Amino acid sequence: MNALDKPLLERLYPADSRGYEPVAGLYLNTPLPEGGDGLPWCYANFVTSLDGRISLDSGGGCRVPGEIANPRDWRLFQELAARADCLLTSGRYLRELAAGCAQDILPLGAEFPDLQQWRQASGLPAQPDVAVVSGSLDFELPPTLVEQGRRIWLFAPQDADPARVERHRRAGAEIAARTASAQARGHEIRRALGALGYRRVYSVAGPQIARTLMADDGLDALFQTVRHRALGGSPGSFETMVEGPALTPPVDFRLAGLYLDPGDRPGASQHFLRLERARGRACPSLGA
Ligand SMILES: NC(=O)c1ccc[n+]([C@@H]2O[C@H](COP(=O)([O-])OP(=O)(O)OC[C@H]3O[C@@H](n4cnc5c(N)ncnc54)[C@H](OP(=O)(O)O)[C@@H]3O)[C@@H](O)[C@H]2O)c1
Repeated sequence: MNALDKPLLERLYPADSRGYEPVAGLYLNTPLPEGGDGLPWCYANFVTSLDGRISLDSGGGCRVPGEIANPRDWRLFQELAARADCLLTSGRYLRELAAGCAQDILPLGAEFPDLQQWRQASGLPAQPDVAVVSGSLDFELPPTLVEQGRRIWLFAPQDADPARVERHRRAGAEIAARTASAQARGHEIRRALGALGYRRVYSVAGPQIARTLMADDGLDALFQTVRHRALGGSPGSFETMVEGPALTPPVDFRLAGLYLDPGDRPGASQHFLRLERARGRACPSLGA
C-alpha cells in the first residue's frame, strides 16, 4: 500500500453503495461516457478551497495555491487525463508555462507510469492530444508536445494575425476551427473536436474556458476537489471556477459521486465530487 491508499476514501454518495476505496484507481476505473451525435463528452476538474478559490495572485500572476494543491488531488487529475482523447488548454496557460509561472500539467504520467500502461492496454496513444483555445494566439507552443507524438490543435479566430497562425503551424499545430469571433463559442469547440473524432475531451484550462463551455451547454461533467480550508483574499486577487458574464439561465449539475478524504493529518481533509450536467429534468439527488 502506498501513500495514495492511506487513508482510504469513504464513499458518501451514492449512499446505497457506502464503502471505502483507495485514491488510486478512483477515476481510472469508473465508467465514463464517450459522447454521441458527433460531440465528445467534455469534463473539467478543479481543486478549490472551502471558500471557492481556485487560484490566488501572490504577486506574479494567479496560481493554484500551495495550501490547497495536494498529491491525492493530483493523482485524480492525472487519472482523469488518462481517460481523455484530447486535453483542452488556453493561450494564457501556455504563456504562463513559458514564463515559468505555471506547473507543466500537459504531460501524462511522469510520476505515475501505471497511467501510461493503462492507456497502452486500452489501445490509446501514450499521451492525449492537445487543443489550445486563444483569442490572441500570443503564445509559444512547447516543442515537447510535438516531440511526445501528440497532435496539437488550435482554435483561431477568423481575423487572427496570419503571421501568428503561420508561426504555430510551423511549430507543429493544426487548425481545428477558425472561430467567428475572438471569443470562441463552446459549441464551436465541441463540434470541431467531435468532427476530428475525439470522444472524451478534458478541459484542463481555467474559469474562462469553463464558462465558455458551460454557456453553450458544453460541459457534461465537473469533478471538484474541495479542500477543507478557507483562504480568503481581496477582491481581484483570486479566481473562482467560472469567470465571465453571469450564466443565464444558471447551469445545473446533479451529484453523481461524493467521497470523503479524511486526510492523514490536521488540515489535510477534503472531499471529491463528481457532478453531471442536469439537462431538462429535476435533480434526482435533491428529490425534486
Ligand atoms: N484550481 C484549479 O484546479 C485550477 C484549474 C485550472 C486553472 N486554474 C487556474 O486558473 C487560472 C487561469 O487558467 P487558464 O488561463 O488556463 O484558463 P482560462 O481562464 O480558462 O483561460 C484564459 C485564456 O484562455 C483564452 N480564452 C478563454 N476563453 C476563450 C474563448 N472563449 N475564446 C478564445 N480564447 C479564450 C484566452 O487566451 P488568450 O489570452 O491567449 O486569448 C484567455 O486569456 C490560472 O491561475 C490557473 O492556475 C486552477
